[in-house]
Amino acid sequence: MTNIILCGGSGTRLWPISRTLMPKQFVKLFDSKSLFQLTVERNSKVCDSQFIVSNSEQYFLALDQLEELHKDNNRYLLEPVGRNTAPAIALACMALDKDEIVLVTPSDHLIKDEEEYAKVLKKAQALAGENNLVTFGITPSFAETGFGYIESGEENSVRAFHEKPDKQTAQSYLDASNYYWNSGMFCFKAGVFLDELQKYSPEIYEASLKALNSAKDETTLTRIKHEDMIAIPEDSIDYAVMEKSSKVKVVPSNIEWSDVGSFDSLYEELPQDENGNTINENHISIDSKNNLIYGKQRKIATVDIEDLIIVDTGDALLISKKGSSQKVKEIVKEVRKTT
Ligand code: GDD
Ligand code: MG
Repeated sequence: MTNIILCGGSGTRLWPISRTLMPKQFVKLFDSKSLFQLTVERNSKVCDSQFIVSNSEQYFLALDQLEELHKDNNRYLLEPVGRNTAPAIALACMALDKDEIVLVTPSDHLIKDEEEYAKVLKKAQALAGENNLVTFGITPSFAETGFGYIESGEENSVRAFHEKPDKQTAQSYLDASNYYWNSGMFCFKAGVFLDELQKYSPEIYEASLKALNSAKDETTLTRIKHEDMIAIPEDSIDYAVMEKSSKVKVVPSNIEWSDVGSFDSLYEELPQDENGNTINENHISIDSKNNLIYGKQRKIATVDIEDLIIVDTGDALLISKKGSSQKVKEIVKEVRKTT
């Protein structure tokens, strides 16, 4: 099984930690490893090889971080610009044998129960072998509007897939008992995915095929040409295929998953002291509680504050209320206007 690792996202909700040239998947947030490195370590236990699909600008970052893990023999496909996940996955699948089973994973998630993960993957691999498009279902805990929802039926069957519903709809899914969050990982035969893409999003299929056929190919590195990449319509796998295909299956996945999408979810994952502040040797706390304090360069002193997010990267400082961290992406729009 080949692991296609998607690392083209920019992670704007984690600004100022996550930057254009250093997006969050490459930032060393946990145990001096990046989410990308943790992904590679986790999946290389179950996959034979890694196929990294990233923006050309992040190629050397990925290369360096894999070298640190002593993992060579990786394959790379570089996109001059991102066109979202459907083209990224299509290009990788087109470069592989059509019968190869692939595990598509984001590069920016945490999975804490690796034993359960191995079991879940075994089940997924078996279903993928029977020509299904397999998704991994996470039991939802709140009405998140940034996720896909999987409406499950008997066994592993799927009645429908709904990408990014509005708040009210998400709440109704949460109230029903047969909906899962889509984890954003997928398992299928490369050829089965491509057939479904050709059926439901033929423009993406055709333009991707053309782009791959005229790409610069060096054994382990494929570079897509700029003019071919921008000719591919932009869409995610979720809208382009998963919402439309009748081959979708789900494996319920109790794997302690987090997508570390915002500072609120990062707070939950970082180790905390007895006052609920994230552990940081630069933090001097006077009666402060339940704060995320991130900063490696200078002292950060807080007095009598609660439920704040404080992120200091030396050149930028973010202060936000907890619960509001989804709005951080709006800052990035402002910053781009002024720089
Ligand atoms: N190579 C490449 N090129 N990778 C990309 C691109 C691209 O153009 N765009 C996004 N990615 C990578 C991101 O870095 C991330 O690892 C992954 O693909 C998913 O993209 P996101 O942009 O983070 O997707 P999302 O969070 O909106 O939604 C997806 O994930 C949710 C779970 O976290 C969907 O699959 C949802 O259904 C799902 O619930
Ligand atoms: Mg995401």
